[in-house]
Amino acid sequence: MKKILVTGGAGFIGSNYVNHILNERDDYYIVNIDKLTYAGNLENLSSLANHPRHVFVRGDIANRELVNYLFEKYELDHVINFAAESHVDRSIIGSYEFFRTNVLGTNILLETARKFKVKKFLQISTDEVYGSLGKEGLFTEGTPLSPNSPYSSSKAGADMMVSSFYHTYGMPVVTTRCSNNYGPFQFPEKLIPLMILNALSNKELPVYGDGMNVRDWIYVIDHNKAINLVFEQGKDGEVYNIGASNELPNIEIVKLILSKLNKSESLIKYVQDRLGHDRRYAIDSSKIQSELGWKPEFTFEKAIDYTVNWYLSNEKWWKNIISGEYQSYYEKQYGKK
Ligand code: NAD
Ligand code: TYD
Repeated sequence: MKKILVTGGAGFIGSNYVNHILNERDDYYIVNIDKLTYAGNLENLSSLANHPRHVFVRGDIANRELVNYLFEKYELDHVINFAAESHVDRSIIGSYEFFRTNVLGTNILLETARKFKVKKFLQISTDEVYGSLGKEGLFTEGTPLSPNSPYSSSKAGADMMVSSFYHTYGMPVVTTRCSNNYGPFQFPEKLIPLMILNALSNKELPVYGDGMNVRDWIYVIDHNKAINLVFEQGKDGEVYNIGASNELPNIEIVKLILSKLNKSESLIKYVQDRLGHDRRYAIDSSKIQSELGWKPEFTFEKAIDYTVNWYLSNEKWWKNIISGEYQSYYEKQYGKK
């Protein structure tokens, strides 16, 4: 039995991972630590109530005593670190929590994992650490790190620390860098769910700048399958890019969502651009494809339909969210735009 500390497993990607992997594998025992920030939601884990191989712990990865206690109590031998402050716009409003969780929290996990001699430490990172592309080219694992936002710089800091623990101590670490995800349980501060929910409520759809910034979209289940392949078979000290070669300008996504929901494009509102807005992300995932045999299984057409339908059928889930802290965030972020 692998005894795995999964961090941030009540957030979007982490909860999809835990839900998926406990169904797939009967040799994984998961201790899921999550601080339940605004982005963490126990409803994302409701299908695991009383699951014999899942323990949820509300806690902070930057709490050294707690992390140490969990390693001891559950004899943990693997770590998958999803926990992070993850939203660029929030990092522009204030960056302290980003560095506290993403850098200091990762440091505490790494130090404790080293003390307990874990067999694998998987760092979940992002393509945003590479910075921004022009019209041409793709991010490879060899692209120099050049993060532009407080969020991406905190992730790059963590990535470099993870790599240093391999070089210095020979720790069995591995890092994944994925492009933009979408799918069920994504917090509606991110582009796709925000646009779906605004359209459903006939609210304006705030498109930053000229709407021509490009992101490379991947369905969350494809990301999670790649994560598990890297977790099981990735080479220590290596980085693996993950992406589904699905580049789209933001405005096209927004228009597609409106058409799927039979809403008018007059809801689109071009607003003041994000500060330091990265123009284009695009991933070269040939390394994970050729070395580990991964490839994406979901087409964008199919998975975006599934995602829109998920939000349509899970109104209770998102109504709970938008009635809380989200309102004051939304007002702060979009009120003056
Ligand atoms: P999310 O914001 O939905 O979830 C993050 C989770 O971490 C939340 O449940 C939150 O409560 C928890 N958390 C935050 N601070 C914590 C702390 N100090 N201690 C314990 N738990 C804490 O984020 P996500 O979109 O699911 O992203 C997960 C990971 O994947 C992040 O590391 C992110 O950088 C990375 N990533 C995300 C994307 C994307 O498109 N969303 C793409 C590539 C990589
Ligand atoms: P986002 O989902 O925040 O992901 P990231 O910035 O990490 O790539 O944003 C995706 C793209 O959508 C990005 O170019 C910014 C843009 N965007 C808008 O135009 N309007 C919005 O309200 C949001 C949240 C994002």
